[in-house]
Formats: sequence, structure tokens, C-alpha cells
Amino acid sequence: MASKIYEWLDTRLKLDAVGRRLLDEPIPGGASWIYVFGSATLFLFLLQAITGMFLTLYYAPTPDHAYDSVQFIENEIAFGSFVRGLHQWGASGMVVAIGLHMLQVFLYGAYKPPRELLWMVGVVLFLITLGFAFTGYLLPWDQNAYWATQIGINMVGTVPVIGDLAMRVLRGGETLGALTLSRFFAVHVLFLPATIAVLILLHLFILRCVGPAGPWRGGVERRRSGEPGASGPAERRLRTSEPFYPRQVYMDAVVMLAVFASLSLLALTVSFPLADKADPSDTSFVPVPEWYFLLELV
Ligand code: HEM
Repeated sequence: MASKIYEWLDTRLKLDAVGRRLLDEPIPGGASWIYVFGSATLFLFLLQAITGMFLTLYYAPTPDHAYDSVQFIENEIAFGSFVRGLHQWGASGMVVAIGLHMLQVFLYGAYKPPRELLWMVGVVLFLITLGFAFTGYLLPWDQNAYWATQIGINMVGTVPVIGDLAMRVLRGGETLGALTLSRFFAVHVLFLPATIAVLILLHLFILRCVGPAGPWRGGVERRRSGEPGASGPAERRLRTSEPFYPRQVYMDAVVMLAVFASLSLLALTVSFPLADKADPSDTSFVPVPEWYFLLELV
């Protein structure tokens, strides 16, 4: 039965040919565990999208209901606290994965010609990832969310020339309130996901056009490679290549499984309790930003 359905689809969609094109992509130097960070980031993005969709079923983006709706998800909904935990840990995981991906690409010199466009699109992907984190932080509407966002927006206000305007656009008015919450929600669940999805496809399309960079080569070896007959160990490795399937697919899948297992364990054991409900009159509250925004201040 399954093979009949496959045959029917294959005659119409040429699944075999498409699958071969996707899986036979040659990797210079062969598969390696060091190339897993891009697909780990992709996996985390998809996990964020799926858990986010489920959270949106119950979340209400208004100052009157946001806090209670998150409490409701946390305490009343079946698997609510698990899904929220996955989304919270997944956010940190995505920042870590994208950081490791950038580091690998940088150390291997994979940003160099002809891959500059891949790097440039990547930089926008990184900024969007931070945009997700910043807009998501306000949504639970507790004291931390409110005051950390207030500080973030005030920092934007210090940008020369456009600071004031940017601050008003972010807030949707003169003060942080209902309009800010609804626009942060819209940006978090509509604008950013739509943009990042298009840019990820573009990122992967460019990768397909230029092909993966392959193993790291030292400066001497690269200079030598211009000379006929000269070859170092990495040059020799570069000349051999291996298709994406099966070994690289296997490595990527193992890492995705390990990431999912670790996040699930964290989501089940470490919860994210809310602070008190946001109180705009309580100016004595000292908020704590997420760790990745702290790193940027160091
Ligand atoms: C949502 C974020 C991102 C996703 C889903 C993503 C996904 C991927 C994937 C699946 C690959 C192929 C496998 C690999 O080499 O790891 C790749 C390659 C690459 N990415 Fe990303 N990426 C993201 C962000 C970034 C960022 C922030 C940068 C740099 C600023 C970047 C630069 C590159 C480069 C230069 C390559 C080619 C690597 C090579 O040829 O060896 N990416 N990306």
C-alpha cells in the first residue's frame, strides 16, 4: 500500500530525482561532526516554531490577560509547562547553536569568497534570533518582562538621531503598555517568523549554489595550492569528497536527537517561574535580562 502511494506520488512529483539532488550534495573532505551546528540551529528554529504555535493557542496578548494566560499554560494545561519549558530552553539553545555555527564558519574561513553572501544573510539571521529573544521576553508581562523591556527600549533611545523615533515605534506610543505588548506579540509570532523563514531558505539556496567550503586549510597550504603539484594533507582531503547522505545526515540526526533529549530533560526538571504581575508604578524593581543579553553588555 505504502509503496503504491509512493509510486503514485513519484510519477507526479519525481520524488526520487528530487531526493537524489538533495542528498547527493558533495561535501569536500567528507562528512564531519564539526558541520552539525547549522542543522542544529535549523532544528531549534523549527522546535521554537512548533512549541510557539501551541503556546499561542492559550496566550492572550493584553496587559489584563497575558500574565494569567501564561500562569494558565504553566499550571492548568496538559503538557503546558513542558511545552513552555521547551520554548524557553529552546530559545537559549538556539542562541548557543547559532553562536557555535558562526564560530565554526569563522574558524574554517567559510565566509571567504565565494561565500560572502552566505555570511551576510547569516548576520541578519543572527540579529533576527536576538529580535525573537527580545520581543519574547515581554510577553509573560511579569515584573521582569516589563522592566527589562523598559530598559532595553531606553537603550535604543540613546542611539543618535533616530533614537527617539525608534523608541516610539517600539513602544507604539509614549509609554510601555497595551500597544507595546500587542506589537511585540505581532512581531514575535508573525513578522520575525515570516522573515526568518524566507532568509533561511535563501541561506540554504546560496549554500546549494556555492557548495560547502570543506575542511580548514592553513595559510601556507592555501598559498601552496596555487602551485602546480604542491599539496598538504588538507589539500589532499579536499580533493576527496563524500555525498551528504548517509554519514552527514546520520551525524546531523544524532545531534538533533541529543539536543531534543537534553532540552526535554531540562524542560521537565527546571521550570521558569514568573515574577509578580507587571506593575508600571513600581520603579524600585530591578529586572534581570536573559544571559545572552548580559554577555553583550560585558
Ligand atoms: C537561523 C539561523 C541559521 C540557520 C538555520 C543556518 C543553517 C545553516 C546550514 C544548515 C548550513 C549547512 C551546514 C553547515 O555548514 O553547518 C549553513 C552553512 C553556513 N552558514 Fe548558516 N545558518 C544560520 C545562521 C548563520 C549565521 C548567523 C552565519 C554567519 C554570520 C551563517 C553562515 C553560514 C556559512 C558561511 C555557511 C557555509 C559553511 C560552509 O560552507 O562550510 N549562518 N547554515
